[in-house]
Amino acid sequence: MLTELDSLKTEALSALDTLTDEAALEAFRIDYLGKKGKLTGLSAGMRDVPVEQKKDVGAKLNEVRDAITNGLATRKEALQAAKDAEAVAGIDLTLPGRPGAGTGTLHPLTQIRDLAVRTLRRMGFTLADGPEVETEWHCFDALNTPADHPARNESDTFYMPDGKLLRTHTSSVQIRTLETVKALPVRIIAPGAAYRRDEIDATHLSVFNQIEALFVDKDVSLADLKGTLEFFFREVFGPGTAVRFRPHFFPFTEPSFEIDVKLEAKGKEARWIEIAGCGMVDPAVFAAVSKSRGDDLFHPDQVTGFAFGMGLDRLAMILHGISDIRHLIENDVRFLQQF
Ligand code: PHE
Repeated sequence: MLTELDSLKTEALSALDTLTDEAALEAFRIDYLGKKGKLTGLSAGMRDVPVEQKKDVGAKLNEVRDAITNGLATRKEALQAAKDAEAVAGIDLTLPGRPGAGTGTLHPLTQIRDLAVRTLRRMGFTLADGPEVETEWHCFDALNTPADHPARNESDTFYMPDGKLLRTHTSSVQIRTLETVKALPVRIIAPGAAYRRDEIDATHLSVFNQIEALFVDKDVSLADLKGTLEFFFREVFGPGTAVRFRPHFFPFTEPSFEIDVKLEAKGKEARWIEIAGCGMVDPAVFAAVSKSRGDDLFHPDQVTGFAFGMGLDRLAMILHGISDIRHLIENDVRFLQQF
């Protein structure tokens, strides 16, 4: 039986070398290893092998099965490798790619945010951050916005079941920052998303983007605010740009202003366009923060500050003459390709 097994092995392995396709390999497998195959047939003979030889014959049986199984696998791999090599023959891997094909650009909103951040960083502002799911206190109360203020209405703001809300402006980052800083001056900017329960149309989305700025120190004045914003808008819209401050009201600044820039759309007469809100931080905000901190770093008699905030989507629309804010979120390549 041992010699029979040996010659079966030799026969099988040399047969393998002659096989050249999948079907032949499968036929071989059935012929040798299948239920009625040659090797299976031989192993049935184990029954008649004398006890003292069973161990040797068993070992040989395993050896032959392994040799045939491995030989089959190796042959399969060799055939596949030959097939693969044939498939890529003639492809020149050293050919350079086609330049420019499919190269993307930054989204116009990302571009305008980067420009705003870069410009304000040159004036010493650093980046700050805060959560988009915010407490009523950070978004409203600490910003001197009382419970009966319209912005807090159910129909204007997205409330969570636990009473938190999606921040309606990035001004909440003013409070987040003032709560945690250790020393003066505070000079931060905070770009980020804001949410309002607005009807969606050509100029409104329920999720939009703002950038907030806050400067607090011993003697920050309205002149600092004006100078900073004039510089900023001339960097963004060009050196000659006229900037105007109109008295306005925000609960958390006093005095407060809306800022307009004078711009001309192509072929049209220049007109004033409202672009941002700003003002001197209301002492009530410093009082709220001082109470929560439990120290005097921001005592309303000791510090002054300015803040401003503006919509980045709006900025991008004005800068690029985009007529519908929804273009900014639709990801239509025909639109995005233009920037
Ligand atoms: N948070 C105000 C808004 O969303 C803008 C603003 C920011 C006004 C800072 C004054 C100071 O309309």
